Amino acid sequence: MKVDVLLGLQWGDEGKGKIVDVLAPRYDVVARFQGGPNAGHTLEFDGIKHVLHQIPSGIFRPTTKNLIGNGVVLDPIVFRTEIEKLQKFNLNVRENLFISKKATLIIPTHRLLDQAYEKAKGDNKIGSTLKGIGPSYVDKISRQGLRVGDVLAANFQEKLQKLVGLHNEILKGHAANCDWKELEPGFLDAVAFLKTFKLIDSEYFLNEELKKGSTVLAEGAQGSLLDIDFGSYPFVTSSNTVSAGACTGLGIAPSRIGEVFGIFKAYSTRVGSGPFPTELLNEEGEMMRKEGNEYGSTTGRPRRCGWIDLPSLKYSIMINGVTQLLMMKADVLSIFDKIKVCTHYKLSDGSVTAAVPYEYVNEKITPVYTELKGWCSPVSGILEDQIPTELSQYISFLEKELAVPITLISTGPDRTQTIHRRNAA
Ligand code: GDP
Ligand code: IMO
Ligand code: MG
Repeated sequence: MKVDVLLGLQWGDEGKGKIVDVLAPRYDVVARFQGGPNAGHTLEFDGIKHVLHQIPSGIFRPTTKNLIGNGVVLDPIVFRTEIEKLQKFNLNVRENLFISKKATLIIPTHRLLDQAYEKAKGDNKIGSTLKGIGPSYVDKISRQGLRVGDVLAANFQEKLQKLVGLHNEILKGHAANCDWKELEPGFLDAVAFLKTFKLIDSEYFLNEELKKGSTVLAEGAQGSLLDIDFGSYPFVTSSNTVSAGACTGLGIAPSRIGEVFGIFKAYSTRVGSGPFPTELLNEEGEMMRKEGNEYGSTTGRPRRCGWIDLPSLKYSIMINGVTQLLMMKADVLSIFDKIKVCTHYKLSDGSVTAAVPYEYVNEKITPVYTELKGWCSPVSGILEDQIPTELSQYISFLEKELAVPITLISTGPDRTQTIHRRNAA
């Protein structure tokens, strides 16, 4: 069997959690392949809203197995809080959740390092979620990190002390305080809790599932424009958020990748610093934020809002090999009588391009817009044959430009507010 991948094509928060939950009944396994508690994936059903950070979004489906893959950075403290929040829903978490022994551990000093590095950057700060993501991936790459499987080893405490010592040296250089005595008990408690879960050799687990015919959905975190290689560097996260990341983050061969679901909002948002060519710093941006409730699921920060950006979407589609597009939050644009679509970028030398320039961060990019008519009517929860003409025109325009069928339209946060299009181009 193949592994389908679902990932964000913009700067994160496209609605991945909702759609993984919607698609999960079709899959035997849902697997997260990168990122960590910087993610906030929202699911809504039966009038309840859930936000998941590290646990895959298939967890509410009783027969779906959920895997936290080796590419993830896992914070045991956040993990315990997440599990505790799920307790009242009587899910079979201990049965259905599997954690890779090769996932990297986030320890409390990683969060302190994140803060120290951001402070040192001053005005150039990334706008990190400060969950310790960057520093834990740094330790992984510099071959001094701790992994989930290490918690089972007799010398775990020794290894932990060594890493804390290294972190303390760096923190001292940043004049940052670390009271490890205070942090240690809470962390060790959370590690003891983590040990009671299924810590496994996930690459074997997943490949055996595939061999026996199981269907697998890989769930991305963040978005392609935050990818460490292809995003708006340095204003990015520290992992490969693109489809290739599913191979290294789960231990599956490239030939195993099946459908690549690329998910995007009908407009654009971004949290944190960095370029955002179509950002609306005006009344329209405010309206979008209010209507779309655009506040970070992890940090509560207001999201920057703007019109849809086709050059960057085309770039993401290219890098990921997207086979199906899923458009979210169509309902939010109901408030506008005119909808703008950025088709090209005008650069400071006057040239016009549909490509994302290398100097994405330093170049002054002016978006070139095409204007379409808005649908100006509520669409939340409508059926496919109730799609207003102007929304149909918007969808057709995007399909033509992006050259990939849009097979799903989301019209509200709830599971049920979802149109699976039979008539995709
Ligand atoms: P993720 O990180 O990609 O899972 O996305 P987030 O959960 O961070 O942000 C998406 C937000 O939009 C959440 O609050 C969702 O409940 C909400 N949402 C998802 N789809 C829709 C939609 O079609 N319409 C509206 N209005 N909200 C949506
Ligand atoms: P989901 O999975 C939106 C952003 C941060 C910051 C940059 C680096 O919910 O879509 P980091 O904490 O990784 O050091 O932050 O990336 N960021 C996200 N933005 N959605 C996310 O995840 C994000 N995860 C990180 O705001 O700009
Ligand atoms: Mg999110």
